[in-house]
Amino acid sequence: MKPIIPAERLSSITEYYFSTKLKEIAEMNAKGMNVISLGIGSPDLPPSAETIEALCQSATDDKAHGYQPYVGIPELRNAFAEWYKKWFSVELNPANEVQPLIGSKEGILHISLAFLNPGDGVLVPNPGYPTYSSVSNLVQAKVLTYDLDEDNNWQPDFEALEKMDLSNVKLMWVNYPNMPTGASATPELFEKLVAFGKKHGIVICNDNPYSFILNENRLSILQVPGAKDICIELNSMSKSHNMPGWRMGVLASNPQFVQWVLKVKSNIDSGQFKPMQVAAVAALNNSEEWHTKMNIELYSNRRQLAEEILKTLGCTFDSKQVGMFLWGKIPAKYKDSGELADKVLYESKVFITPGFIFGDKGNRYVRLSLCANDKMLGDALERIKQLSIAGQQ
Ligand SMILES: Cc1ncc(COP(=O)(O)O)c(C=O)c1O
Repeated sequence: MKPIIPAERLSSITEYYFSTKLKEIAEMNAKGMNVISLGIGSPDLPPSAETIEALCQSATDDKAHGYQPYVGIPELRNAFAEWYKKWFSVELNPANEVQPLIGSKEGILHISLAFLNPGDGVLVPNPGYPTYSSVSNLVQAKVLTYDLDEDNNWQPDFEALEKMDLSNVKLMWVNYPNMPTGASATPELFEKLVAFGKKHGIVICNDNPYSFILNENRLSILQVPGAKDICIELNSMSKSHNMPGWRMGVLASNPQFVQWVLKVKSNIDSGQFKPMQVAAVAALNNSEEWHTKMNIELYSNRRQLAEEILKTLGCTFDSKQVGMFLWGKIPAKYKDSGELADKVLYESKVFITPGFIFGDKGNRYVRLSLCANDKMLGDALERIKQLSIAGQQ
């Protein structure tokens, strides 16, 4: 038989780090090792009671099981627009400026397919969410990384950007509150990004899933006057509404950009299960008290424990970080973040994420997820205290 070989584009990517690492951890657990995972950012508590109630009720409706509109049900589009108005003071026309997504991650692919020709340049943050680069590679665009540095509060260096050859650049990924560094944006940063995008004809995409977590100064790039002309914002219910497995996200922009994305997306999926959309509407109406309890109070306790873990490991960190992770700089004695993360995994049976997976600027950092309860974080701290390295601090 003639050998079957995969498409060339597959050689431009590797399997997602967590996809392989979590298999290894499952094998360790199968051998009884009871690894505590502080890796992935998957909230461990349920959505609001109203959300679950709406899901269950809607599922009993015989008419709820058919294909749904490609653009999402009108109630969900309205609810996303209302949510943007309530929390970000951003006006969006529910008819044509929002597009519900099957998680914001898929939006990264749809935007890339809608805007990038092979060879077009894409500005990608280093460190940054790995999907920006891998999807850019899959669509055969040219990844141009821009550095985020601790000294510059993990914000883009506009002087350095201006010195790059931007003639072929179509798209720039930004992500504030930033993952993995926990850095916040400022209104001034968003203003500069909008001006930069307009000056060079570069679509600015702000990926914004973390604005509710340990953060009360919620910002959207769409707050900048005129931002919609050149910006797209992705948002997500995964983190802020405890719904990571539901795959509920949204894209917001001007009607033309939304239409281009829909042109791609409507050829790929056929909408989302109606009871999930109805339940998402209920979740988008979660009270301020619910958000404070789930997204601020709960994570504040965990954050203290995570800070203790980093201190025990000899890492330094910025205590003003926001979001559901803690990002810390590793001690000089380690070759890189991989060495420390492996040591912690194999000797303490605690999984922490090595920063190199976010780009070489993350080489000397590790990331801890706060999606583990106080008991797990406390146990992880105890285990790490036992580590020989901890004894040497
Ligand atoms: C920066 C960033 N963007 C997007 C996502 C994906 O979120 P969603 O669950 O909405 O696809 C994540 C999830 O970890 C993330 O960290």
